[in-house]
Amino acid sequence: MIKLENNFIVVQIEKLDWDTNHFGIVMGNMTIHQKEQPPSRSDIDSLIGEAMNRANKEGIEHISIRLEPDSKKLIHACEDRGFRLMDTRIEFIFDYKATKLKEVKNQCILREGRAEDEEKLVSISIESFSNYIDRFHSDEKIDNAKADKLYELWVRNSYKGYADSIIVAEIEGEPVGFSTFKEFVSQTDKGEKMGEIVLSAVSQSARGKGVYTSMICQGVRMGSGRMDYLLVKTQIDNRAVQKAWASLGFKPYRSEYIFHYSK
Ligand SMILES: CC(C)(COP(=O)(O)OP(=O)(O)OC[C@H]1O[C@@H](n2cnc3c(N)ncnc32)[C@H](O)[C@@H]1OP(=O)(O)O)[C@@H](O)C(=O)NCCC(=O)NCCS
Repeated sequence: MIKLENNFIVVQIEKLDWDTNHFGIVMGNMTIHQKEQPPSRSDIDSLIGEAMNRANKEGIEHISIRLEPDSKKLIHACEDRGFRLMDTRIEFIFDYKATKLKEVKNQCILREGRAEDEEKLVSISIESFSNYIDRFHSDEKIDNAKADKLYELWVRNSYKGYADSIIVAEIEGEPVGFSTFKEFVSQTDKGEKMGEIVLSAVSQSARGKGVYTSMICQGVRMGSGRMDYLLVKTQIDNRAVQKAWASLGFKPYRSEYIFHYSK
């Protein structure tokens, strides 16, 4: 871990072992924490430059960073160092105290995922996320097949405990969609709990029938009484899911830019 600090900011670069193994490129993640006093561009530039030189010496070839859209000084400093925008993520939340769920009529049977569904869910995931609009597929330094493979592994890891449950949508006895559900991802200062619907997809033949909206509605029902907020995230240009969230009563929560740097 590289950690550098001045009176205004803390810059850290952490090597990402899983990503390095998967993509075959030595990868790291940079975070920049601003202290109370606003930093000047030169305070930022010198520390980022030093951190990147150290990363270079440690053999890190690829660095990602997530930045708040209003942190323009940090964004411009990263752009000047060669970071390129790969993704804009948007998050919505369902606030259980403030919102009454707008129920939808299911177009499908919704049930808990079973072990025997795994291969079918993997194939829905591969079909749905091949050449997707995420940061890995947008990065020309990353092998597209390896970016595709992530979504297969994501489903398999969900079965190995990464998800607390998997919602499966079924039509005529066949799984046509899934959403993975985590009961706890974070807690606010007041001790309020947040869960998340993490990965969802619907097979092409079943799209446009409200299957996704039904699964998210089911996720909200499942979280009721177990959490205060339910979080969902996507790429800013994934309008279909944002329409579904808005129709159920989710509200915009936060957003971030994701930049990558490659040697
Ligand atoms: C996005 C996805 C899950 C939507 O599944 P779906 O079952 O077709 O969605 P729904 O039928 O519930 O439709 C939800 C809303 O999106 C709209 N919509 C559906 N496809 C759309 C598209 N391609 N572009 C814009 N809007 C679209 C629907 O009209 C509906 O809006 P409405 O209620 O205002 O009519 C599916 O297309 C998919 O698996 N895509 C690839 C993977 C993906 O994006 N996963 C989600 C990552 S966060």
